[in-house]
Amino acid sequence: MCGIVGYMGSQEASQVIMNGLKMLEYRGYDSAGICTMDLGDVEIRRSSGKLVNLERLLNEQPLHGTIGIGHTRWATHGKPSVANAHPHKGGAVVVVHNGIIENYLALKEELTSRGHTFLSETDSEVVSHLIDENLKTATSLEEAVRRALKDLQGAYALCILSQMDDKTLIAAKSGSPMVVGIKGDEYFVASDMPAIISNTREMVIMEDGEMAVFRNGGVKFSTLGGEEIIKTPRYIDWSPLMAEKNGYPNFMLKEIHEQPRSIKNVIAGRLHVDEGDVFFEGLELDDSALRAFERLCLVACGTSWHAALAGKYMIEEYCRIPVDVEIASEFRYRDPMVSKKTLVIPISQSGETADTLAALREAKSRGAHIVSICNVVDSSIARESDGVIYTHAGLEIGVASTKAFTTQLVALYMLAIRLGRANGIIDLGKGQEMIAALGRLPALVEKTLELDPQIEEVACEYLTCWDAIYLGRGISYPIALEGALKLKEISYIHADGYPAGEMKHGPIALIDREMPVFILAPNDKHLVKVRSNMEEVITRGGRVVAFCSEGDLETGKRAEFALQIPWGGEALSTVLFAVALQLLAYNFAILKGKDVDQPRNLAKSVTVE
Ligand code: AGP
Repeated sequence: MCGIVGYMGSQEASQVIMNGLKMLEYRGYDSAGICTMDLGDVEIRRSSGKLVNLERLLNEQPLHGTIGIGHTRWATHGKPSVANAHPHKGGAVVVVHNGIIENYLALKEELTSRGHTFLSETDSEVVSHLIDENLKTATSLEEAVRRALKDLQGAYALCILSQMDDKTLIAAKSGSPMVVGIKGDEYFVASDMPAIISNTREMVIMEDGEMAVFRNGGVKFSTLGGEEIIKTPRYIDWSPLMAEKNGYPNFMLKEIHEQPRSIKNVIAGRLHVDEGDVFFEGLELDDSALRAFERLCLVACGTSWHAALAGKYMIEEYCRIPVDVEIASEFRYRDPMVSKKTLVIPISQSGETADTLAALREAKSRGAHIVSICNVVDSSIARESDGVIYTHAGLEIGVASTKAFTTQLVALYMLAIRLGRANGIIDLGKGQEMIAALGRLPALVEKTLELDPQIEEVACEYLTCWDAIYLGRGISYPIALEGALKLKEISYIHADGYPAGEMKHGPIALIDREMPVFILAPNDKHLVKVRSNMEEVITRGGRVVAFCSEGDLETGKRAEFALQIPWGGEALSTVLFAVALQLLAYNFAILKGKDVDQPRNLAKSVTVE
């Protein structure tokens, strides 16, 4: 996710925008830029790295003018660099963009054939050229923008300027956040309120499919189709800090609730429904190259390792390819048995985890082909891989991984479709069925998030416990591990995850009234066995909380609590159960007064051994 700011008023635009960008730096900071309009000319300054570099550049080469747009970048397409920094200029048009344009490659090809020259690797630059192309026939910048937006697929929050019209600033929103601040005849546009709140508290929240045209001290709100709409400003009495978290009390809860959007982002532009297949822009291996691998080796740490373990279940089930799952800190010292016939897949949110990077290098030195799954574009692991599948989860600030984890699960599910289609195990119909399940997932995550009040009740009931066990069978076992880790790392309650079938081999000795047993019981092929495991616990006086599938009123009858998790299909239900367990850990931690964003002893990225 990136941060955009626009301004029209009586002040020096560059100063207002720079102040706004500083309040959005938590949204991403790998490059930044500002454009202002002065005496009919647009001037742009851009820099890579943190905002302070842009500030330094502006001190040396100031910008003037009272209309402007600015951007702080979290790279999704194209590495962090000045060339990829926003604002992007296409002909007479300058834009800043937050979101993902899914059909940018096709648009770029078409515009290139019409003589447009592209200077960046980004999806966003396409928007400036597309509007510029429409300016050739439109009667106004506003009309050119409306026409161009009709051709865009994906998510965007845009601020737009044009050399052809030095009195107009346009903002448009679909799928990415945007607010407008109003102070007399001054107007502020931004991704989030923190960029505006020091100037005014009178704000308009833009909705998807809406546009704002600022001109000569006034503003006109309309639909993208041109129908004028009335937007009434609201008085926002949040503190700037609250505004940075978009009203959430902390980043972790904000990121838990961002998961419907982050899952849309990891899917965006990658589903080829007609072919029942998936396309990864960073995976340059054709079907025959994929078929040549004898096995896969997924290597990671922590939560990412749990995603890898779930990925094993998906890929082996849907593709019938052997998958090893390795803890990076073990793999790297074991003289690992990999060769050029092994596809090694490091999984890392940060792309900087030292053990995972070292494991990548070990595998590479033995001739393995490396395709990593990362969230941070151009991170060390991404750069040293032969190919990268980005999860596009956006910046994850909470130390406990939430949206990064669920987007890893979705990326692995999509990889399973790609591999299964490449080796013919998944046919067209099955591929289309699996893709349809993906399309339903964001709404099911929204529905799972609504369980929070019930989940909070569970946390209240067992708040004084010092130990907990999470049980799951099959693909729910990695989710049980992840649930236990979440509880440990933010509430400091000891917890373990086990395969439910393992209870009788030792852990059942732990059962007593003091230790809750959280059992994942989705309505899959393991349900009958899981019910038996539940009985084993209950008959020994254990206290069970059952996470069942929606509509299953049987399984939880003897449990102390029974949560009904929406059904997303056997593989994708892991995402929904994971969200429920994130909320469980979160509620425990908050009730215990813990700092969920920065738990003790932890770091967001473990760049040391
Ligand atoms: C998970 O909540 C932790 N933050 C931690 O286990 C993390 O998953 C692990 O350190 C790996 O980090 P990475 O995904 O950035 O490589």
